[in-house]
Amino acid sequence: MAVKGPIGIFDSGYGGLTVMKEIAGKLPDHDYIYLGDNARAPYGNRSFDTVYHYTLQCVKWFFSQGCSLVILACNTASAKALRTIQQQDLPRMGPDKRVLGVIRPTAEVIGQFSEAQSVGVLATNGTVLSESYPIEIKKFYPDIRVYQEACPLWVPLVENNEHTGHGADYFVKKNINQLFEKGEDIDVILLGCTHYPLLKEKIEEYLPVGVKLISQGEIVAQSLADYLHRHPEMDQRCEKNGNRKFYTTDSTQDFDSHAQLFFGEKIKSLHIDLE
Ligand code: DGL
Repeated sequence: MAVKGPIGIFDSGYGGLTVMKEIAGKLPDHDYIYLGDNARAPYGNRSFDTVYHYTLQCVKWFFSQGCSLVILACNTASAKALRTIQQQDLPRMGPDKRVLGVIRPTAEVIGQFSEAQSVGVLATNGTVLSESYPIEIKKFYPDIRVYQEACPLWVPLVENNEHTGHGADYFVKKNINQLFEKGEDIDVILLGCTHYPLLKEKIEEYLPVGVKLISQGEIVAQSLADYLHRHPEMDQRCEKNGNRKFYTTDSTQDFDSHAQLFFGEKIKSLHIDLE
């Protein structure tokens, strides 16, 4: 019989909790462990090599905890590390294990929301520079125009609990305006960073009327449910006692006081050292 373990959910910090909340809502019986690499967050402005190295280290840790399936609930890690991990590292580290990201499932459906065939993507520098969204979206919707805007200060605003303050308005307005200067006819905006749902209300204030704002949590949760349905052999390797555990590479006190904002429930985390 297959050895069972929890599903691993990873982010550089707290953002992945917005995805985990939706996943755990859709698949409540599965066990999950979450890891936020808060000690080294944010990843958004770091180099390809650094993001790859950090992400791989975290994936190895998930495997050491018995996970057969790991979700990179971080666009930056999905953009910069996922492909190399899938193609180069998994075949030797764990050919029967799977690491999935958040970009492809989002790209698969985003076109359905746009009547104007014009999509705006708000994301970190790393995700924007990787061009992952334009490349992936065009595979599914070749006629869609994709405009991107990097918002390098949004993650620090959220991580520092400044996202509802007046300071955030300046940067949100600035980046939204810059996005619409690139693509005037955008009618759908994708929040291509798992931290951004916390800024949703502020972003909506600065959007032209009729523009839809899409977050990834529900999309990724539905895609995971479909994946497990299509891969019963993987689903059988997932423990299902409804357990959730949370780990951080930084202070558990900080994690617990911030995490509730992202997850909507009180969290008691444990600390791990990866170095
Ligand atoms: N939440 C991550 C994402 O979706 C990135 C945050 C960071 O810059 O570390 O891209």
